[in-house]
Amino acid sequence: MMIDESPSLPNIAVVGLGKIGLTLAAVFANNGFNVLGADINTNVVASINQGKSHIKNEPGLDQLVLEAHTNKTLSATTVTKDAVALADIIVVIVPVLVDEQNNIDYQMIDLAVQAIAEGIKQGSLIVFETTLPPGDTKHRFGKMIENVSGLRAGEDFHLAYSPERVYSNRIIQDLQNYPKVVGGIDKESLERASNFYQQALGCELIEVSSLETAEFSKVAECVYRDVNIALANELAQFAEEKDVNMSEVIEASNSQPYSHLHAPGIGVGGHCIPIYPYFFINKGLDRGLTPLSREINDNMAHYAISKIEREIGSLANKNILILGLSYRGNVKEPTKSTTLLLINQLQEKEANVLINDPLFTDNEIRKYGAEPLSLKSKSISEIDVVILQAFHQEYSHIDFSHFDQCKLVLDGRNKLNKREITQLGIKYKGIGD
Ligand SMILES: NC(=O)c1ccc[n+]([C@@H]2O[C@H](COP(=O)([O-])OP(=O)(O)OC[C@H]3O[C@@H](n4cnc5c(N)ncnc54)[C@H](O)[C@@H]3O)[C@@H](O)[C@H]2O)c1
Repeated sequence: MMIDESPSLPNIAVVGLGKIGLTLAAVFANNGFNVLGADINTNVVASINQGKSHIKNEPGLDQLVLEAHTNKTLSATTVTKDAVALADIIVVIVPVLVDEQNNIDYQMIDLAVQAIAEGIKQGSLIVFETTLPPGDTKHRFGKMIENVSGLRAGEDFHLAYSPERVYSNRIIQDLQNYPKVVGGIDKESLERASNFYQQALGCELIEVSSLETAEFSKVAECVYRDVNIALANELAQFAEEKDVNMSEVIEASNSQPYSHLHAPGIGVGGHCIPIYPYFFINKGLDRGLTPLSREINDNMAHYAISKIEREIGSLANKNILILGLSYRGNVKEPTKSTTLLLINQLQEKEANVLINDPLFTDNEIRKYGAEPLSLKSKSISEIDVVILQAFHQEYSHIDFSHFDQCKLVLDGRNKLNKREITQLGIKYKGIGD
């Protein structure tokens, strides 16, 4: 193992080397720290130990991983316990997800924390960065570490929480630009965590009064986004009923400082916004805006399909092309993508569903139960309806003149060129249009 055991530099273990964990590890390793990453995926560990990032489309990451590898400040292992035993600071960034029924799924992080508890030494600082239901750092994971290690939180080891707030595609930039919210189980834990982030990221810090405040702030950010998108979606549907253009409304309303209407769209997806509201809903906030917003946003796929049916009638045997398997533009991320809802619902209506996504291979697309279609294929002339779900940059200049039989373009992100499409005799419908 390459980790430096000299007392001058704290050794860091980053547990979970996915999109966020690897980026954190690489940034720390290029800012003067010795980093040993831990991940259960042997391919991930092998590629990092060759100086290669397994995460694509994250600007600057390939270079940071290579530089840290060359300088021998970053290596990885599948044995979390060993990495933790060598570390003064342990950063945990293993996901907590929700299952099909939206119950909180702790499987991955529980395993990780068990291994951490087996390796943690007296005096270490452990910081959770994974988005968590408020209370979990102390009451679930702090307790788990205490029970397994026999050490006491706040006495034998330090415990902090600092949510990861970055956005895919600009993680390295966001790590420097967004203030880091930090909470500790006690004053010393808070100070140690803040000092670490100041050195490792050089960003502004927001120290809050408890672990729970820091945990709550991250979930609240996601709920804020979900509720505001739901409001935009609700207003957009009402605007359609009243024959009013929602984009124009948004521009007009947002021209004063207290209105921040969001953009309506065909749905909300990804790792965060459709998942974290359940960290409140499942812990007691089960009435009111938070669960209602989830319902409104998840219903947008159904709403879009009804809109198509109103325009062209039955969808049975119609060839429907969805643009974008990813949940949003220019990111390769299918988690909770609205396209998954669209595929299911369109197939129930016996439509032939085709998917285009330049970020996925044909085989990757087939795993989601639909056929891939290249925009260069001659078969695009047989498409009846196009649905734009994720606005990848490649879609800013689609030539719709090759879609000979296309009757309707449903622009789920209100991004396509309505004039060009309608000039070809194809109907155009946006959300709130
Ligand atoms: N992806 C985002 O855009 C984003 C943004 C903000 C915050 N976050 C937070 O970061 C967390 C991680 O996100 P990500 O995108 O890096 O996830 P990811 O799925 O890319 O990576 C998770 C990694 O954890 C590893 N892992 C699973 N179980 C493990 C275990 N027991 N021990 C060690 N490693 C284990 C996996 O092999 C994988 O490499 C999210 O759950 C969320 O809380 C993510």
